[in-house]
Amino acid sequence: YSNALIFGIETSCDDTGCAIIDSEGTLLSESLHCQSLIHLRNGGIIPDVAQDLHRRFIEPTVEETLNKAEVSMNDITALAVTLQPGLPLSLAVGMKYAKHLSRKFNKPLIPIHHMEAHALVARMQQSITFPYLTLLISGGHCLLALVQGVNKFKLLGESIDSAPGEVFDKVARKMKLRNVSEYSQMSGGQAIETAASKATNPHIFKLPLPMADYKDCNFSFNGLKTGTFLHLHKKEKEHNIEADELIPEVNDLCAALLMAVTRHLVHRTQRAMEFCKTRELLSEHEGKLVVSGGVACNNFIFKNLTILCDDTGYKIFRPPPKLCTDNGVMIAWNGLEKWRERLDIVRDLSSLDIKAVSPLGENLIPNVKE
Ligand code: KG4
Ligand code: ZN
Repeated sequence: YSNALIFGIETSCDDTGCAIIDSEGTLLSESLHCQSLIHLRNGGIIPDVAQDLHRRFIEPTVEETLNKAEVSMNDITALAVTLQPGLPLSLAVGMKYAKHLSRKFNKPLIPIHHMEAHALVARMQQSITFPYLTLLISGGHCLLALVQGVNKFKLLGESIDSAPGEVFDKVARKMKLRNVSEYSQMSGGQAIETAASKATNPHIFKLPLPMADYKDCNFSFNGLKTGTFLHLHKKEKEHNIEADELIPEVNDLCAALLMAVTRHLVHRTQRAMEFCKTRELLSEHEGKLVVSGGVACNNFIFKNLTILCDDTGYKIFRPPPKLCTDNGVMIAWNGLEKWRERLDIVRDLSSLDIKAVSPLGENLIPNVKE
């Protein structure tokens, strides 16, 4: 099991990503084809378009990754591929290509859960021992989980409606932030973070704390989205805004939304910490929080989570931005973690299939109102 080379393939959403990692955990090469600019133009991800682009990119991305590492597929020990959760059409492209390579070169396949990979990749560059708490925030997901081992996860809570990145993207579009040239190439979340940093008076906009009287660790972002839309429409009317114009208070409204999302994330994370403490799931002196997913790139959110961790005695970890967003490296890394523990190394491909919806571990906390 030593001297392994693990090849990772990720296609669960709108990024075609590959990477090769050796048994020491050293990254030999990576390659990523992002579709985000194309989807930005379409106003959101169209599954057929995403599938088409994955089909077009998968082979060149695999080739490029092999070339950069100066190895051939024959040198690879095992292939790791995302099979769940994600867009079914996108997942299918990665799975089919991985199965094709597996048959052609006689390599075992290691099935990967996309969210587990997000939660584990922080261990690639920093020594973070189990157990730890993880907050995964992206355009498609929002969850809190306890990571107890490479394939041992306990779900503490998740969003009951949309994900924070999805709300940032929708609000940014409604606000027409893309009409500002500075923001035109940015994701909604990035644009909102940048606009918010220029705010002067965010408190003119009031937004509620979601699920304030729920004692669980679930999230809800739809109320903040609707609340922001209402403020936006009111200001557009007030100023007689034209179709392609922004409201003058746009920076303040971005900041109000970012602050409200942050408050909610911090509140639920604090709740998860309390739960872990009363259940003695994490040692009080060695609490660790790993934040990842595209929204974790947000420095305002990260700063406020850091303050929470300082207060509760937790150590906080965040992978570099490139590893927070979707990528092939985290799939290869998860493949290596499984390879080291001889977990899920599959040779009979007939048993492998994609699963669009797949919770991360069992749910520890029932949804209760108090
Ligand atoms: O993890 P990711 O690449 O893809 C998935 O959604 O799985 O995350 C993309 C999301 C987008 O919704 C984007 O708006 C958000 O992450 N995002 C941010 C920032 N950078 C990216 N949200 C807030 N602040 C940022 N700086
Ligand atoms: Zn993701």
